Order: sequence, then C-alpha cells, then structure tokens
Amino acid sequence: MDLLDKDGLTEAEYLAGYRQGDYPRPSVTADVSVFRETEAGTQLLLIRRGGHPFLGKWALPGGFSEPGETVDETAARELLEETSLAGLPLVPFGFFSTPGRDARAWTMSEGFAALLIEGGPTPVAGDDARETGWFMVDSRWESGVVTLAFEGPERFEAKLRRDGAYAFSILDTGGLAFDHAHIIARAMERMGLLQPEPVDYDGLNAQLKALTDGVPHPLSNLANAAALLWETLGGINWAGSYLMEGDKLVLGPFMGKPACIEIPLSKGVCGAAARTNSTQLVPDVHAFPGHIACDSASRSEIVVPLRKSGRVVGVLDIDSPLLRRFTQADKAGLEAFARILESAL
Ligand code: SME
Repeated sequence: MDLLDKDGLTEAEYLAGYRQGDYPRPSVTADVSVFRETEAGTQLLLIRRGGHPFLGKWALPGGFSEPGETVDETAARELLEETSLAGLPLVPFGFFSTPGRDARAWTMSEGFAALLIEGGPTPVAGDDARETGWFMVDSRWESGVVTLAFEGPERFEAKLRRDGAYAFSILDTGGLAFDHAHIIARAMERMGLLQPEPVDYDGLNAQLKALTDGVPHPLSNLANAAALLWETLGGINWAGSYLMEGDKLVLGPFMGKPACIEIPLSKGVCGAAARTNSTQLVPDVHAFPGHIACDSASRSEIVVPLRKSGRVVGVLDIDSPLLRRFTQADKAGLEAFARILESAL
C-alpha cells in the first residue's frame, strides 16, 4: 500500500504536484586549476577572459553546466573549449557558494584540479578565452595572511586569510576574476602545493619536552620525536633521524617512506650536516651536489645535527615535496627541538 504524507498524498501524487519554481535555483559552474611541475617550481594555467565580466582579466578555465551533463563533464568540456587540453585527471576538491561571488547571477562552482609533470600538452586558447598563460605560482605566509605570487605573461599577487579548516577570505584578488584567488588557494592546498602555515615551535618543543622528560629509552624518544614532527609540520614527506655508527650515519626511527640505511659522511645533505656539525637548510635539493634522493618527490630538506658533549651523534632530517619549504624560523625552531632531543638520548 502507498504511504500517504501529512496532506494525504501518495508519492506519485506529491511528485505530480511538485513545482520546481517554488525553490530559487542557482546556476552550477566548474572551475579548473591545471598545475605543472617544472625545475623552477609550480606553474598554473590561466586564461585571459574574452568577455564580460572581468573582460581582459586572468581567470581559471571553466564555465556553466549544461542540461544533461555532470559537473565533472562540464569541467572537462570547458577545459577543452578554452584551452584545448583533454584527458587530464581532474580531481574535485571543493564547492564554492559564497553569496555574491558572481556579479551576474547566483552561481555555485565546483573546483577541479590536475597536476601535470614537466612538459605535457600545449594549451591553445579558444571559446571565451582570449589567451592562455602559464604562471609560476608561489606562496608564503606572514601574520596569518598567505600571499600567492603569480609570474607569467604578467606579475601580480593575491592575498588571503584563513577563515577555517577549509576556507579562506580574499583580502586582495590581485586582479584575478571572480573569487578565483580563493579557488586557486584551495586547489594548491588540495594538491599539496601551498606552503604550510608557520609552526608554533614553542608549543611543539614543550610537547617534546613533556614526552621525553625522564624517559631513559633513546630509541623511544627518537621515535616519538619523529611522530611529533610528522603530526605537526605541514608539507613534509619524511621526518626522522640518522645515528652515527663508526664513520657513517645509520637510519634511525622515522615517519615516511622507507629510506636508505647507511649514509657516509661524504654524501648527501645528512652527511654534510654531520661532517660540518652545522644545520643544512636546502631550499632546492636538485641544486645540492650529492643529495641522496630517498623519495623522488622531495624538493627541499633541512638537516640538524644532534650532539652529545659537542660531538655529533646523529642528525634530525626532514624532507618536503615543496620547493623552499623551510624558513629561518623553522631552522631556529628545529635547532631548539634538537637541543631537547639530545638531552633525551
Ligand atoms: N636526502 C638525504 C638522505 C636521507 S632521506 O632524505 C630520508 C640526504 O641527502 O642526505
């Protein structure tokens, strides 16, 4: 028997009387961030808009969903029409629905991103796009504000403040169309391309002290130190230690992919840190002679010596897939971290 609702209607009767117009409806769009890795850093593909609004401004490729297509199909179609790129692995990462984000009408947009390796297909502008351009895109944090720097056919900067776990508010669009500065920041974060926010080293180092104080097991302390770094630092793909054994470094407790077991002091960033008894901050590991690539994704690294009575007994090693991940603030904070760890070895 058909169930009746509070008005005494069957489901079929309810559907026959349903008026879609009773509810206001937004338009749905897709916006696509295509990134490409190069030796010099990450690039983002933008189009110069060929029509109003934001005529002549740089924007993400994208556009309106048509009846009968999924928003994933919209993304692929708009990318093809505006840039000629096809067959990219597009990852959906967020829905953008801030009221007023589009001066034309009520639009909600699904963000998609793809990350290409160097080279790849060459885009050709079409449809609503007057021109396409690859922009080197870099990010840096200062006082809770992230600056996205774009360098390509033009140079400009956008500024955003984090509003919550997943949202940013735009302080300066940098001239980009719509809320695309926000969509780009979120795309970069989703693809692991956004620099992480600065670490609170006072808090981190207090935690290490609390974890290791009075614990008479050096290996346990090194293991907890690696776990703490792994859980606290954003944008890293390896954190752990190597310990001196004779004239070489031997793999200690760590988090991340399996790593090389023995490192002679003459080799690698770790060898250099142990040999010179000084922190090695390497903004681009490809530019470091003798760097040992345990994970081909690593692009920057910091290695801090661990000492006992002034003698190097090991190193703390942290790797990142981001170029220029580690700052002078990280160096100072991690050196203080190493001082606490040493007293627990
Ligand atoms: N990259 C290091 C080797 C160790 S792995 O990164 C964990 C180096 O060049 O010494």
